[in-house]
Amino acid sequence: MNLRTRYLGLELKNPLVPSASPLSRSLDTAKRLEDAGAAALVMYSLFEEELRHDHDVMDSYLHNQSLGHSEATSFLPMHGDMPSRQDRYLEQLQRLKQTLGIPVIASLNGVTPGGWIEYGKALQQAGADALELNVYYIAGDVNVSGADVEQRYVDMLQELRQHVSLPVAMKLSPQFSSVSNMVGRLEQAGAAGVSMFNRFYQPDIDLDSLRVSPQLHLSSSAESLLAMRWIAILFGRVKLTLAATGGVHTHSDALKMLLAGADVVHLCSTLLLHGPKQLAHILQGMEDWLDDSPYESVEQLKGVLSQRHAGNVSASAYARANYLQLLDSYPPGAGN
Ligand SMILES: Cc1cc2nc3c(=O)[nH]c(=O)nc-3n(C[C@H](O)[C@H](O)[C@H](O)COP(=O)(O)O)c2cc1C
Repeated sequence: MNLRTRYLGLELKNPLVPSASPLSRSLDTAKRLEDAGAAALVMYSLFEEELRHDHDVMDSYLHNQSLGHSEATSFLPMHGDMPSRQDRYLEQLQRLKQTLGIPVIASLNGVTPGGWIEYGKALQQAGADALELNVYYIAGDVNVSGADVEQRYVDMLQELRQHVSLPVAMKLSPQFSSVSNMVGRLEQAGAAGVSMFNRFYQPDIDLDSLRVSPQLHLSSSAESLLAMRWIAILFGRVKLTLAATGGVHTHSDALKMLLAGADVVHLCSTLLLHGPKQLAHILQGMEDWLDDSPYESVEQLKGVLSQRHAGNVSASAYARANYLQLLDSYPPGAGN
């Protein structure tokens, strides 16, 4: 069975790629993921806020030193003694590259174009095989239009591409008026892939303490339907590569994403819940299913159930027809 796939210009042995998470902070866990069959690894993110903080600390350190007494300041650690978050990230990237044989995709995470994005160059020099840029942006300002939000993504991508020659994947929010148009614009701006979708963490309200309580819930399989729909719509309509992220917990979830048209399937919550061995389990399930299927390779089954199989019907008309059919099929009086 040929499970090979291509993502961001990389040849991968299979489509299973752990997405950005704390799992890549440990070399041992990363190695166990590779041993379980991971085809590549996306690192946890290096955040804009962390890079800006490092920059501010350095600024104030240099400033204070020049103002202080030479005797007193000689007790201060020199900059070289204080590894910054960026240094630690680069070291971890280098260690992952030395330990693993699979491609390592570094992740930048931020919301504004500007100087911090040039750190992409350091990630490239440290050996990253590709970059993911996660724009985790909640558009809460009444003065910021949808067009402004879209432009932010394009500007950030273009700025990053000025500093790196590596392929770049954009990790997207599902909250665009036209997801397809946004992906098309990113392709034109030079993205090599999109990762769909970012999962926004939603704060809850605690009625006992009357406080807002931010919570991190891991996903469930039901959430995979969101990415599955958009990947099915985009397959064959864009040339960049498509990664599905969100709600993939089983081999069935992963296979459905491929049938919809994904080039790779990201795993996170299921690995945090069950450990690296879960990846081997999912891979085995996929191989067993493929053995009994009419397909001989992942390439053959990719996109077989994409929206394209609906013929010439537009994506919107297709979705609307399904919607009407579904509402119609609900039995009257149910719930009585
Ligand atoms: C604990 C945790 C940490 C995460 N850290 C990052 C991160 O650093 N950067 C990022 O882009 N996504 C991060 N994610 C998002 C995941 O990569 C993934 O896109 C999301 O959890 C949806 O996939 P899942 O349903 O398989 O969990 C994190 C998710 C979790 C649960």
